[in-house]
Amino acid sequence: RLSRFNNLFNYFWFTVIKMNLNNISMYPIQRNRRLRSNESIRSLIRENVLTPNDFIVPLFVVEGKNLRESIPSMPGYSRMSLDLLAGEVKSLWQLGLKAVLVFVKVPDHLKDNKGKEALNKDGLMQRSVKTIKDAVPEMVVMTDVALDPYSSFGHDGIVEEGKVVNDPTVEVLSQMGLSHAQAGADVLAPSDMMDGRVLKIRTALESNNFKDTLIMSYSAKYASSFYGPFRDALDSAPGFGDKKTYQMDPANRSDAVVEALRDIEEGADIVMVKPGIAYLDILREIKNAVNTPVAAYQVSGEYAMLKAAAEKGWLNHDEVMLEQLLAFKRAGANLIATYHAKEASVLIS
Ligand code: PBG
Repeated sequence: RLSRFNNLFNYFWFTVIKMNLNNISMYPIQRNRRLRSNESIRSLIRENVLTPNDFIVPLFVVEGKNLRESIPSMPGYSRMSLDLLAGEVKSLWQLGLKAVLVFVKVPDHLKDNKGKEALNKDGLMQRSVKTIKDAVPEMVVMTDVALDPYSSFGHDGIVEEGKVVNDPTVEVLSQMGLSHAQAGADVLAPSDMMDGRVLKIRTALESNNFKDTLIMSYSAKYASSFYGPFRDALDSAPGFGDKKTYQMDPANRSDAVVEALRDIEEGADIVMVKPGIAYLDILREIKNAVNTPVAAYQVSGEYAMLKAAAEKGWLNHDEVMLEQLLAFKRAGANLIATYHAKEASVLIS
């Protein structure tokens, strides 16, 4: 009897050693739940934690006085006039938020095909940048570089014979970027998806001695229907056709990596993926392929979806919001542009 026990005993340890040699772990030697058994242990081994440092706050600015206009398809979010901007940015800073991404709503009478108003050194964007920098000099000011808010066609580039033309657009974008840098922007964020725009902007910056201005390029920006509420907010929906000749095909993966690597060669410091949650595979793919920081943009439609579901009582708003933001970090985002930045910061600090 003893020898049978010994045999069993030996067999057991033999199996354990063999499993370890083969690097196979097996129940009951390994129980995955041990690492989840209480919150202290879970917190010790947690791989990702959200902080306000992760977030970029998109801001919509309009002309006017004392305006805080709500955007129906983005509940809780509003466009604000320049005079309210300083106060807003101070309160963001107090929450620990360190970056804003500025978009402007351009009055119709200033829109044209070539985006002339985009280069106005006293334009709304340029004044917004100065206002923010005056209010909180340490705040990182990022600016949207694209023609759509300025375009009478609602396209991100100049239109000729019904087509968005690349090279003339890139010329304007580089001047636009330079003008934002002159106004005091820290980071230029070209969101247009024209070819060669990062190189042109970088060249314009270098030749004008803006050596420290960063470029955060929307490298993998897809032709997405998740942008709907944003286009309501800025009144920037394309007047004809769609954006599929410049924004990427949602069916594709490999050209996203090509885009990111090319933008880095052209002088981008940070590459971005957009939209967010539906494109986390792309985010991880790019993260694995590059050594620069990677940003993700959780876009207006994603924000709207959660707000709508929460309004109906179908989802726990705060929990789902934080889970989604965490998913961006886990997927590899170093920065997350999100309309939830403020409410998330309140919850996590
Ligand atoms: C335009 C731009 C868009 C967004 C950011 N910059 C819309 C578009 O490409 O049509 C979308 C942001 C969002 O949906 O939150 N260059």
